[in-house]
Amino acid sequence: MAKIVVTGGLGFIGSHTVVELQQDGFEVIIVDNLSNSSINVLEGIQSITGKTAIFEKLDLKNKSAVQEFFIKYPDISGLIHFAASKAVGESVQEPLLYYENNLNTLVYVLQELVKKPEAHFIFSSSCTVYGQADDMPITEQAPIKPAESPYGNTKQIGEEIIKDTCKVKPNLQAIALRYFNPIGAHPSAKIGELPIGVPQNLVPFITQTAAGLRPSLSVFGNDYPTPDGTCIRDYIHVVDLAKAHVVALKRLLQKKHVTNFETFNIGTGVGSSVLEVIHAFERVSNLKLPFKITNRREGDVITAFADTTKANNILGWKAASSLDDAMKSAWKWEQRLRNA
Ligand code: WQD
Repeated sequence: MAKIVVTGGLGFIGSHTVVELQQDGFEVIIVDNLSNSSINVLEGIQSITGKTAIFEKLDLKNKSAVQEFFIKYPDISGLIHFAASKAVGESVQEPLLYYENNLNTLVYVLQELVKKPEAHFIFSSSCTVYGQADDMPITEQAPIKPAESPYGNTKQIGEEIIKDTCKVKPNLQAIALRYFNPIGAHPSAKIGELPIGVPQNLVPFITQTAAGLRPSLSVFGNDYPTPDGTCIRDYIHVVDLAKAHVVALKRLLQKKHVTNFETFNIGTGVGSSVLEVIHAFERVSNLKLPFKITNRREGDVITAFADTTKANNILGWKAASSLDDAMKSAWKWEQRLRNA
């Protein structure tokens, strides 16, 4: 059974990907330093799959610890790298933390992978690398624009590090998945998003407002040049996103890839405005969500949604869940959290 390492494997997208990997027959080694996740997620994963993953508490910023990890596990078939800090606003205030945590860790992992005869590597990238793209929907050929935040910059630089390494290390076979906006939770409601503190992202803020944790949702601006004035994003169910990682990994393991560094946009291909997301939540929850229009948020792009042709046709992957499905799963998860 192929052994796959998932760094950040107790995080939001990481945990959902571990579930899909295990259910697809892979043996998983979860690496996480628990800086932004809970060990309880391990139990949630196991309660879904009935399988135990090997768990290694490891801070990938510790180079010698990373080296020891790869000596301990010499028979790794692939590695999916989620471990990174991801709060846009925080990255503006703490750039050095972000460059250290998101890039040093990537370098240390790659330095060990390239020692192997063949290494299969999936990188967690983001549509944020496009900034405000000129044309919608966004294809993988869209120009990479100057990052709007240190977080976005770490994703751009991360891709460059991998690309440069792949050029001289043919044994490194890599795919970067550029996520649009991951939302929702596993339908079992046994794992989901666990924002620490005040949620920065729209959907957890909506569900926490509906759960009574927040008095109301602030809609950051309704004076944008969009049909209803609010920003448009491509909200993808986290389970669909997780499945994309399994498909991408198999592409590498089965040597179906064309070059040793490929990028794919992973979204639904559908753009939804903030108000449309609110209305979707109200439909699936049968609740009225209290919200108010406030000022724009610094750094927000107006519109971003994916052209998923490449992922559909070449990767053989397509998002299966609708916005309503995702919102329903997000609300079910929030209700379970509140009753736990
Ligand atoms: C979506 C829309 C907000 C909160 C970021 C990162 C991206 C990825 C996902 C990590 C925007 C509006 C939000 C609120 C609001 N992160 N909004 N009120 O900014 O598109 O993407 O998170 O991988 O890389 O850039 O997501 O959910 O923060 O915002 O009106 O309380 O909702 O203005 O238009 P974003 P988001």
